[in-house]
Amino acid sequence: MEMYLDNSATTKPYPEVVDIMIKSLTEKYGNPSAAHRKGLEIEKDIKDIRRNIARTIGAKEKEIIFTSGGTESNNTVLRSCAEIYGKRKKHIISTKIEHPSVLNTLEYLEKKGYKVTYLEVDEKGMISEDELRNSLSEDTLLVSIMYVNNEVGSVQPIKKLVNIVKEFDNEIIFHTDAVQAYGKLDIKVPSLGIDFMSVSGHKLHGPKGIGFMYIKDGVRINPLVTGGGQESNLRSGTENTPGIYGLGKAVEITFADLKGHISEMERKRNLLKELIEEKIDGLKINSPENGVCHILNISFEDIRGEVLLHYLEQKNVYVSTGSACSSKKKGSHVLNAMRLSQDEIEGAIRFSISEMNADEEIKNAVDILCESVDELRSIIRLRK
Ligand SMILES: Cc1ncc(COP(=O)(O)O)c(C=O)c1O
Repeated sequence: MEMYLDNSATTKPYPEVVDIMIKSLTEKYGNPSAAHRKGLEIEKDIKDIRRNIARTIGAKEKEIIFTSGGTESNNTVLRSCAEIYGKRKKHIISTKIEHPSVLNTLEYLEKKGYKVTYLEVDEKGMISEDELRNSLSEDTLLVSIMYVNNEVGSVQPIKKLVNIVKEFDNEIIFHTDAVQAYGKLDIKVPSLGIDFMSVSGHKLHGPKGIGFMYIKDGVRINPLVTGGGQESNLRSGTENTPGIYGLGKAVEITFADLKGHISEMERKRNLLKELIEEKIDGLKINSPENGVCHILNISFEDIRGEVLLHYLEQKNVYVSTGSACSSKKKGSHVLNAMRLSQDEIEGAIRFSISEMNADEEIKNAVDILCESVDELRSIIRLRK
C-alpha cells in the first residue's frame, strides 16, 4: 500500500482530471485562437471554465487570468507592482515565511533598489497585526502576505490585514499567495478586499503547470510574458488547454462540496495527529491548533527529519521535511522564523493529507512511523 502524505508538495490528479486531459490531447486539441470550429469550441470551453472558477471565489470572469501556476503568478504580481508603482514608491512589506517564489523575487527586487520589510512570525507562524501597522509608510507600494503557510499551515487573517493596509492608504496594493488556501478555505475575494491572489492547480488534484491569478477589476498590472496577446494581453502564449481543462475539472469536483472536502481533510488530519500523539512520545507539534485542514508539522525528539523521511520512503510512506522547493537547502526558513531550536528544526516532518487518503492508509502510516522512530531513536541513543 502506498501512503502518500505529501499533498502540500503536490496532489494526485483526480481520475476525471486525467480523462478530460486525455480528451483535450486527443480530440479537443484545437488552438483556441483559431478562427475555425476546432478552435472556437475550445475557446467556448475555456470561457465556461473561467466563469466557473471565478464563481468559486465570487470574482468576475475577466478577473481570472490563467498562468503556469503559483510561481508565475507570484512573479507577475510582484514584478509588475514594482514596475508600475516603483517610480514614486520603493517599499514592499511581506513576511519571513513566504514561499521561495515570493522570497527570491523580493530578493531580486531588493537588488534593484526596493526596500523590503519581512514581518516576523510567532511560534505558531502568525504575523503580528501591530508590526504590519507599524511597518506601513508613505513609501509602501505593495503588501504581499501568504494566506496559508505551506510548511506549518498557519492561516493569516487576510481580511483584517487588508483592512489595516487600506485604512492606512487605500492605494497600497495587497497580494496574497493562496496556493495552499484555495480549495481548503472558503475564499470570497469581494469581502476580502485584496487586489491580487495566486493559485496553483496541482495542489487540488489538478495538473501541474497550470494555475491562475485573480486580478481585481481596475487594478493595473503589466504582463510578465508578452507575445500574441492571449489572456487579455496579460499572459501571452498559446493556452495550456489540457491544463485548463484539468484545472477546471479539479475545481468543479472540489467546489461541488467544498465544506464536505474541508471537513473530511480536517477529520483525517485530526486522526493522524491523535494517532501520532497516542503512539509516539517526544513530540513537538509545530502546526497551530487553528491551522489549515491538511497540514501537520511535527518535530520528533532525537530524530533527523531527513533520515526519517528516507526511512519511511523505503516503506512506501511519503512525507516531507519542509517545502519541496527548499527541502534541498539546509533548515527550514519557516521553522527558523518561528524560532524553533536547531534540533527541533532538524527533527521536523511535514505530513499533508488529502481526501484521497483512506483512514486505513493513515493508520498504517502511523504504525510504520512509530516503528521507524523507535528504531532510529534506539540507534541514536546507543551512540550517545
Ligand atoms: C505557498 C506556495 N506558493 C507557491 C507555490 C508554487 O506553486 P507552483 O508549484 O504552481 O509554481 C507553492 C508550491 O509549493 C506553495 O506551496
